[in-house]
Amino acid sequence: MGEFHVMDHPLIQHKLTIIREKDCGTKVFREVVSEIAMLMAYEVTRDMPLEDIEIETPLVKTTQKTLSGKKVAIIPILRAGLGMVDGFLAMLPAAKVGHIGMYRDHETLEPVEYFVKLPTDIQERQLFIVDPMLATGGSAIAAIEALVKRGAAPSSIKFICLVAAPEGVNALHTAYPDVDIYAAALDERLDENSYILPGLGDAGDRLFGTK
Ligand code: PRP
Ligand code: URA
Repeated sequence: MGEFHVMDHPLIQHKLTIIREKDCGTKVFREVVSEIAMLMAYEVTRDMPLEDIEIETPLVKTTQKTLSGKKVAIIPILRAGLGMVDGFLAMLPAAKVGHIGMYRDHETLEPVEYFVKLPTDIQERQLFIVDPMLATGGSAIAAIEALVKRGAAPSSIKFICLVAAPEGVNALHTAYPDVDIYAAALDERLDENSYILPGLGDAGDRLFGTK
C-alpha cells in the first residue's frame, strides 16, 4: 500500500494557516504556496539515493556524495498545481516540467482533461505530481492515469498536495496503491459540493484571482 505522509513541520503548518485565511489576498497566497511547495520538495526528496564520486577540492582529492538514481520531472495539474512548480524548481533546478490540464466539472464533479504535455522520457523519471488540493481524488487519479497510459510506472509517482480530504486519500490509495501521497494537512471532510472542510476554498481561483 502506498504511504500517506502529513508534513507536520512547524514552518509548513504556520504557512498553511496563512493561506487558509479568507482575507489572504492573491499576492500573499501565491508567495506562500510557493514557499510551502519548496519546503515540501525538501521533504519528499528525503529518500533520494546518493552515490560516491571522486572530486578535487582546492586542497585534496576526496570522495563525496552526489545524487544518483532517476532524474526528476515535476507535473503540475493545471491550473492550481502551477503555483507549486517554482518552489519545487528552487530545490530541483534541473527537473523537467510536464503539464496536465484538468478541471472538475462543477455539475458532475468529474475531472475533464484538456491538455497534456510531458517530457518524452517520463517512464525513466521520478515523477512528482503537484496540486494543492486532493478532494474527491478524481483529478489526481485521472492525472496518474494520463501518466500511466504514457508508460509511467505508478511506483515512480509521488502525489504532493497542500490539503487532503480523507475521501481523496482513500480513493487515490484504492486506485493506485503504489503511489505515495504527501500533504501539508489532512482535513476533516468534503462538503456537499465536494469542497474540503475547513480547506482553503478554490485553490485555482485564489492563486490566479479569478472567480
Ligand atoms: C481543483 C484542484 C484539484 C481538484 C481537486 O482544481 O486544484 O485539481 O480541484 O478536486 P478533486 O480531488 O475532487 O478532483 P479545479 O478543478 O478547481 O481546477 P482549476 O485548478 O483549474 O481551478
Ligand atoms: N478544489 C479546490 O480548489 N478546493 C477544494 O476544496 C476542493 C477542490
